[in-house]
Amino acid sequence: MKIIMLGAPGAGKGTQAKKIADRLQIPHISTGDIFRANIKNGTELGKEAKSYMDAGNLVPDSVTLRLVMDRIAKEDCQNGYVFDGFPRTIPQAEALEEALRAIGQKIDFAVDIEVPDENIVHRMGGRRACLACGATYHTVYAAPKKEGVCDRCGAALMLREDDRPETVKKRLDVYHEQTQPLIDFYQDRGCLKRADGTKGVEEVFLQILELIGV
Ligand code: AP5
Repeated sequence: MKIIMLGAPGAGKGTQAKKIADRLQIPHISTGDIFRANIKNGTELGKEAKSYMDAGNLVPDSVTLRLVMDRIAKEDCQNGYVFDGFPRTIPQAEALEEALRAIGQKIDFAVDIEVPDENIVHRMGGRRACLACGATYHTVYAAPKKEGVCDRCGAALMLREDDRPETVKKRLDVYHEQTQPLIDFYQDRGCLKRADGTKGVEEVFLQILELIGV
């Protein structure tokens, strides 16, 4: 199954994408996580992405598309994948559609996690991320067992550079301008599903499983 997670920054795409990927035993592909791993490792790609990300802007489509096309060509993507944070612009969605069409495939579901902007800034301020293994926590809604330490790998948890309130506001503007049009794009393709992202993590997960018929 090929699934795209849509939604504003902080809507819970990563949280739900990991759970869906675990349940369906398919890879979770987060372009944000791939960029952050490259920044941490000091690669050329990381250096290029960092300036855009820290300012709350999108990384150019050409860079992102190359990275995603390489990733989905890998063996473990044969039975599907969950995209988290991709596509994020109409050109990215069109390029993905074209690449899949060329091999006789298409996206099965685009799941939009709906959360009003007012809730987002609050959620992001409480998010703590593990840059070592990609796990995500929230100081109130999904706290780690030991404060500041990743349950999964024991590394220190961080407030992401782009989760500071001024940058979150900019990311929301960019989302409304460049990513929200994808909702109509996938509605037109007949594969859009809408989930109420204001509910608790487990409740949102159950909604999504029902929407995608699992
Ligand atoms: P990316 O990492 O993709 O960030 P994002 O889309 O802004 O999404 P987030 O990771 O911030 O939020 P999320 O929806 O995954 O929420 P989460 O589950 O963590 O991208 C970062 C940057 O990389 C971009 O700004 C851009 O520069 C660049 N980039 C990435 N992809 C790109 C692309 N395709 N093209 C161009 N540039 C690209 O949840 C948030 C918090 O809320 C957590 O603390 C969580 O524990 C908590 N939470 C989750 N669900 C709930 C719930 N139901 N109730 C209460 N709390 C909850």
